[in-house]
Amino acid sequence: MWKFANPIRHQIPATRWPTAEEAARSLLFQPIRIGGSELISRTWVPAMVPWRATEDGFVTEANIDWYRRFAAGQPGALVVEATGVRDIPSGPLLRIGDDRFIPGLRQLVKAVREASEGRTRLFVQIIDFLAVRRRPEHQKYFKRFLRITDRHRQALAESSNDQNWLGREEAEVRAFLASASDEVLEHILDERELESLQFGYRERVTDTELAHVRQLPEVLPGIFAAAAGRAREAGFDGVELHYAHAYTMASFLSARNTRTDGYGGRREERVRLPLEVYHAVRDCVGEDYIVGARFLSDEVIERGNRIGDATYFGVEFARAGLDFLSISKGGKFEDAQQPKVGQAVYPYTGKSGYECMPTTLSDEAGPFGRNVPQVAAIKQAVNAAGFSTPVVASGGITTFEQAEGILRRGEADLAGLARQALADPDWFLKVQLGRGAEIRRCTYTNYCEALDQAHKQVTCKLWDRFELDAPEITLAADGRRRLLPPTWKL
Ligand SMILES: Cc1cc2nc3c(=O)[nH]c(=O)nc-3n(C[C@H](O)[C@H](O)[C@H](O)COP(=O)(O)O)c2cc1C
Ligand code: SF4
Repeated sequence: MWKFANPIRHQIPATRWPTAEEAARSLLFQPIRIGGSELISRTWVPAMVPWRATEDGFVTEANIDWYRRFAAGQPGALVVEATGVRDIPSGPLLRIGDDRFIPGLRQLVKAVREASEGRTRLFVQIIDFLAVRRRPEHQKYFKRFLRITDRHRQALAESSNDQNWLGREEAEVRAFLASASDEVLEHILDERELESLQFGYRERVTDTELAHVRQLPEVLPGIFAAAAGRAREAGFDGVELHYAHAYTMASFLSARNTRTDGYGGRREERVRLPLEVYHAVRDCVGEDYIVGARFLSDEVIERGNRIGDATYFGVEFARAGLDFLSISKGGKFEDAQQPKVGQAVYPYTGKSGYECMPTTLSDEAGPFGRNVPQVAAIKQAVNAAGFSTPVVASGGITTFEQAEGILRRGEADLAGLARQALADPDWFLKVQLGRGAEIRRCTYTNYCEALDQAHKQVTCKLWDRFELDAPEITLAADGRRRLLPPTWKL
């Protein structure tokens, strides 16, 4: 994990929790309209992947239990984890790329409705991603993966001053490179080949020499629209288009997107596909269905988007008719740490990853609400352009005072609590009942995120060893952790 050079350890902020009467009067617990629907409160649980789907992307009982547990806490909105829009294998991540996924998703919706007594609105985050391969073994890379071309022979001839390389067989070139020093390899391999060797092969939206990447603007609107149609059929209240972090749509928005086909370069061109996807989705699901997007206030990588890009995108999304804008930050591949051999690069290990899920080992600003100024700038730009599209803030929101302050100051319209809701899904109910002192406070040290990185079932260190031998407890695959937070007894 990436760390600041001279980190400061921040404390979990002490706070005064409201009485039930104060909570009832608060802005946080007032209803808010989103599109054609109303949320009971301005509280929001952003998407979190729990690694509980089947290998084929189907909903499991464990998925249903997970969302049922969040729903029991009755947040205003709950967003189901990033769910793949394509019908391709992607491990135990939920998928919505075919009608066969609808029955499972329908059960999940039903469980949330029942557990929240119909009070929590349920959205599903829909995502497309490009290929990311594991970091290969050194020998295997040169034996099997690297495509040998005359450019390699030329580079070898030049670096060794030996023209015989120009006519050498592929096997000889492979054998030489497999045992060459890093210094030699840096001269022979190009930047992408070196990256594939050191990090694993990773596709970019700018790889337009690949037909399937070139054709993304033709195919993605239809794929997202069909996925959103299925979400509607399964009973979700709406969809959240995943335009954030390290994935396809965020990469189209990125300042690093240099495509020359009208879908890259200037901001107007980078936002074109996200808008076309939105319009296709809207055409499919109709005007009365909630369609929002999650995108980044800042990519936190060199040559990446900054707040000026984000405010521009926010206004364009609002103008197009999106029903909500949920703002995240960072979470990119470009600054991720090198994975171990056999593992895939994880986009939350660099500085941009820190900004996405900040921990208490921080700089002076600390981890709490450090994305709020950027969220406020986006909301201000959207409102100044004449739109009232609700804006969701997230990132280190943990106390009632903090969330209420953000809304009162007009910095955001809704407060998103991801890890704090994972630590204690009853946060919302406890605050409303004037029992905030009973909340399990998230420590923001990212044990949960480490499990996500290892593709293990996500749990929280605050509850996963609690009463492990109680009869109704389901254990994680490792047998040492409980899969769900304890039930709160009123
Ligand atoms: C285990 C875990 C899984 C996550 N999965 C997603 C995801 O599927 N989609 C997404 O947009 N963000 C995801 N996030 C990021 C959160 O939605 C949120 O933006 C981030 O944790 C910062 O908010 P917080 O400080 O309230 O936790 C995930 C975070 C965690 C801890
Ligand atoms: S594991 Fe740690 S960071 Fe994650 S939700 Fe629990 S207390 Fe918070």
